[in-house]
Amino acid sequence: MKLAGKIALVTGSSLGIGRAIAVRFAQEGADVVINYNRTPSGAQEALDEVEAAGRRGLVVQADLSVTAEVKKLVATAVEHFGQLDILVNNAGIETHAPFWQVTEADYDRVLNVNLKGVFFATQAMVQHLMTTKRSGKVVNISSVHEELPFPNFAAYCASKGGLKMLTRNLAVELGQFGITINSIAPGAIETPINRKLLRDPQKLGALQAQIPLARLGRPEDVAGLAVFLASSDADYVTGSTYFVDGGLTWHYKEQ
Ligand code: BGC
Repeated sequence: MKLAGKIALVTGSSLGIGRAIAVRFAQEGADVVINYNRTPSGAQEALDEVEAAGRRGLVVQADLSVTAEVKKLVATAVEHFGQLDILVNNAGIETHAPFWQVTEADYDRVLNVNLKGVFFATQAMVQHLMTTKRSGKVVNISSVHEELPFPNFAAYCASKGGLKMLTRNLAVELGQFGITINSIAPGAIETPINRKLLRDPQKLGALQAQIPLARLGRPEDVAGLAVFLASSDADYVTGSTYFVDGGLTWHYKEQ
């Protein structure tokens, strides 16, 4: 077991990639704080799966776009388990609109969850690690769109591009504390963020034709890499982005 005795917080872990990571972490020996915003039933299912793996879980509701809630989430996790070793910044959203029609409210929501939420969750985690004089690991769930343009998702791309630089910057600032930070860039993964695409056979077929491995990814495809980056096997790895995209990045053409 790669994460025995560790305590992990996974944001947005009631669904999709976050939930797969929470469950996989538990199977690797970690106790897990499960965070949700609007899907308590998914969080409860994630908790059941964590407990079925023989680990402890805690469900905490928090909206990652609200900094006070982010701070409270980290504080609650620390209070409950006594410490935090791993933070996975997974919660993320996207909205579809041509650039010239994006509203300020949509822009704010996407940037606040995908970038500001990560910024202040990581800050709270780092403050905790510094106070307790311990090392730790941060894993960000970014996207292939931290590199690739994604027309009609300008705010999403801006948030993921920002996340790429945040990861690099913090790797440099936090190395002195033994804190590593890396990103995972998933491609097209079968999760609720893609629910519209999954219901559109034409778009789905066109996308699949661009993926060298000829299928969408599954949340579990991402979870294995998250385990590696959160484990001591990755002690000398920081400031990097790892792509989990079936080869999509090198074979991508916007529809
Ligand atoms: C987006 C998906 C998209 C995928 C591949 C992800 O970051 O959330 O909507 O299908 O990238 O383009």
